[in-house]
Amino acid sequence: MKPKILVTRATFDDVIAKLRERFDVEDNQKDDTPWSAEEFRRRVADKDGVLPTGSDRIDSAMLDAAPRLKAVCNIAVGHNNIDLAACSERGIAATNTPGVLDDTTADTTWALLMAAARRITEAERWLRAGSWKGWKNDQFLGVDVHHATLGIVGMGRIGQAIAQRAKGFSMRVLYHNRKRLPARVERETGAKYAAFDKLLRESDFVSLNMPYAPSSHHLIGAKQLALMKPTAVIVNAARGGVIDDAALVTALKEKRIAAAGLDVFEDEPKFNPGFLELDNVALVPHIGSATRATRTAMAMLASRNLTAALSGRRPPNLLNPEAWAKRRR
Ligand code: DGY
Repeated sequence: MKPKILVTRATFDDVIAKLRERFDVEDNQKDDTPWSAEEFRRRVADKDGVLPTGSDRIDSAMLDAAPRLKAVCNIAVGHNNIDLAACSERGIAATNTPGVLDDTTADTTWALLMAAARRITEAERWLRAGSWKGWKNDQFLGVDVHHATLGIVGMGRIGQAIAQRAKGFSMRVLYHNRKRLPARVERETGAKYAAFDKLLRESDFVSLNMPYAPSSHHLIGAKQLALMKPTAVIVNAARGGVIDDAALVTALKEKRIAAAGLDVFEDEPKFNPGFLELDNVALVPHIGSATRATRTAMAMLASRNLTAALSGRRPPNLLNPEAWAKRRR
């Protein structure tokens, strides 16, 4: 008998076909509607493994409804949707998908940075509204990206990929990270370590690239925004919650900073309606890793993690090693 697994949201049909070679798969291909907590608990009750997305809450109540569950393999690198301690207590392996989405997410960060700096989404809205009557010298003046200073907060793989791209724009790159990087990585990326406040004061562009955790909650609030230049642009393709969105709306409205580019929000898919009233913010709906190639790579990596866990092999991207010794069999 094949192990039973649950895939919570629609993915590409070829991914599902591949999963079916090894597993008895229950999927959400047809409707792709997010399940209520109750429905999720009902569907997971007889499963050995689950492939959730970053929007599915994996908490004690859900885990208690799944007495056979051995592995939760997120199709996402971020894993703040998973209660890791609750998984570990129950001997359930939890995994994520690091590495395969770094370049794509770095590209999205750059798209937002450029869009916010050069007012691309604002200008397009204006053009589509039929407002363009002719060329003007001061139409949609933006700020220069080339030769400016980029400050990267969170210098993991994605932060480093963003720094590499900054070389093409002849930028000065500062970074702040929990731990300073080895000199070799600083040389390769061309990024200089800076204290958090210094980075905020000196950067023309600030990119946030750290995971969400209680320690990064509202890392950027009114106080930090006040340190930034009035011409600065902030970009968040990391996680909602690392910025205090209400404080950002105020800072953008009062032009205390110039602009923002946002892929993620507090309380997605809802978000602070104040953003919609502002022209100086480029908004996209959590599409950082959204290319077919990368979303496929993420699903395939999650499925390799699941295959390993359900065959008693330590999954390559195990997040809770403490669960492995006492894993459910
Ligand atoms: C991730 O991988 O964490 C992304 O946010 C999901 O697309």
